[in-house]
Amino acid sequence: MSSTDHDDTRGAVHAPAVAAVPGDTMRAAVAHRFGGPDVVAVERMPRPTPRDGEILVRVHAASVSIADHRVRSRDVPRGLRIPTMFALGMMRPRHPVLGMDAAGVVAQVGAGATGFAPGDRVLLLRGARFGCHAEYTTIAAEGAVTRIPDGVSFRDAAAVPFGFATADAFLEAGGIGPGQRVLVNGASGAVGSAAVQLAKLRGATVTAVTSAGNAELVRDLGADRVIDYAREDFAAGGAEYDAVVECVGNAPHARSVRALRPGGVLLLVIADLAAMLGSKLRPTRDGIRRIQDVGAITGSQLARLIELAATGVIRPVIDRVYDLDAIREAHEYVDTGRKRGNVLITLGD
Ligand SMILES: NC(=O)c1ccc[n+]([C@@H]2O[C@H](COP(=O)([O-])OP(=O)(O)OC[C@H]3O[C@@H](n4cnc5c(N)ncnc54)[C@H](OP(=O)(O)O)[C@@H]3O)[C@@H](O)[C@H]2O)c1
Repeated sequence: MSSTDHDDTRGAVHAPAVAAVPGDTMRAAVAHRFGGPDVVAVERMPRPTPRDGEILVRVHAASVSIADHRVRSRDVPRGLRIPTMFALGMMRPRHPVLGMDAAGVVAQVGAGATGFAPGDRVLLLRGARFGCHAEYTTIAAEGAVTRIPDGVSFRDAAAVPFGFATADAFLEAGGIGPGQRVLVNGASGAVGSAAVQLAKLRGATVTAVTSAGNAELVRDLGADRVIDYAREDFAAGGAEYDAVVECVGNAPHARSVRALRPGGVLLLVIADLAAMLGSKLRPTRDGIRRIQDVGAITGSQLARLIELAATGVIRPVIDRVYDLDAIREAHEYVDTGRKRGNVLITLGD
């Protein structure tokens, strides 16, 4: 098998010496058409050049996320196929190189970019601009990028941006705080495993909805109570929660709202068109709020999160790690919808 179990190489603390960036090409995982994992192939392509204000990063690890699956296969929530057509590409992928986030080493600093130097170990989130499943990527120095503290491996760092930054933004937008009762639907995924930990950190009591096989994992992450979705409907108990974090897409509005107490908040990490419109247009009972948009992720937010990882306060969950050459296998596994936390690819670490 080309995947490896998670090998948390915390010894990888020193940045490799920075050589001049060799040649002007790089290897990348490229998808020229929409479809299954077989549309992705490793190719040589032009290496990006940092524009003014940007840095060039030699990627060592990157996550293969559900977002890569969605964009590659156009598997978007119901009703969003047409609204997302322009962003994803009409006839072929607008972003042939997938990968929203990465951890690596600054290889070059573009004109006017400040705060980083060649050799700095960094983690970054390009988000919907993708482009991280490649040996090199760029990011605005003032954007979602920060240094990786000593003692944190590229792998652990690469498992922070997608899940933790998303969960953090939603919990912050929902004002989650001490004493609140929070339910996380889909608690064993990249976002859910982060939401459980960050909600606990905020002093909430957390109920995690997952399958029986992942009950131990989410308990280890801090969940106070676990609901096996195959045996129990989380909404059956009535209005029990101050917040529902919806990370699966199977908890329609009416069901989630039934589980919320007056004044509670529904955090729609994933929503179909009906839920999106409903959250904007439909009035709620009892002052229940619905949040589906969060602001752009910032470098300082990533800095706060990676510091929490460095000090062991939060734990990035890494399920499988593949070489870049096994990118199709990585996509196949992510496509199952059953990954625990994060799936990573490595590129030369
Ligand atoms: N709004 C945003 O900015 C944003 C950002 C990131 C992600 N997202 C969205 O958030 C969602 C979650 O992302 P993710 O990365 O966490 O996904 P993921 O890692 O692929 O989620 C996989 C997990 O989902 C669990 N799951 C599957 N069916 C379930 C069910 N019926 N009930 C409870 N858990 C179930 C699986 O656990 P079992 O094996 O135990 O079933 C598995 O561990 C995605 O739809 C993604 O598109 C949105």
